[in-house]
Amino acid sequence: MIGRLNHVAIAVPDLAAASSTYRNTLGAKVSDPLPLPEHGVTVVFVELPNTKIELLEPLGEGSPIGKFLEKNPDGGMHHVCYEVDDIIAARDKLKQEGARVLGDGEPKTGAHGKLVLFLHPKDFCGTLVEIEQV
Ligand code: CO
Repeated sequence: MIGRLNHVAIAVPDLAAASSTYRNTLGAKVSDPLPLPEHGVTVVFVELPNTKIELLEPLGEGSPIGKFLEKNPDGGMHHVCYEVDDIIAARDKLKQEGARVLGDGEPKTGAHGKLVLFLHPKDFCGTLVEIEQV
């Protein structure tokens, strides 16, 4: 059902420092910061030949990555995103398999303007999983 790895998201306490690490130390192509107030994060895209890394910094009060950074003050891997062809079919299949879909279970428009859903980490090897319709 799942297709390509769309991105790995890493929550960071300092986006400028993280961008510099990826740009200068690792020699990657790094975008300018993009504030996404409706998602409570500012994001930077790291373009790799075969996938993307997204660096996420909290934006505003009640950011969805705020608690994660309290537990992981140096930052850490926040989620992985897999591509699916049909997000409703994927959701229904996942629910049928007993997986928990977060929120109200309805796909939302994600950081790339495409429909996404998040799946409970306890059902996926301790990793928060995002699925994105491509
Ligand atoms: Co994501």
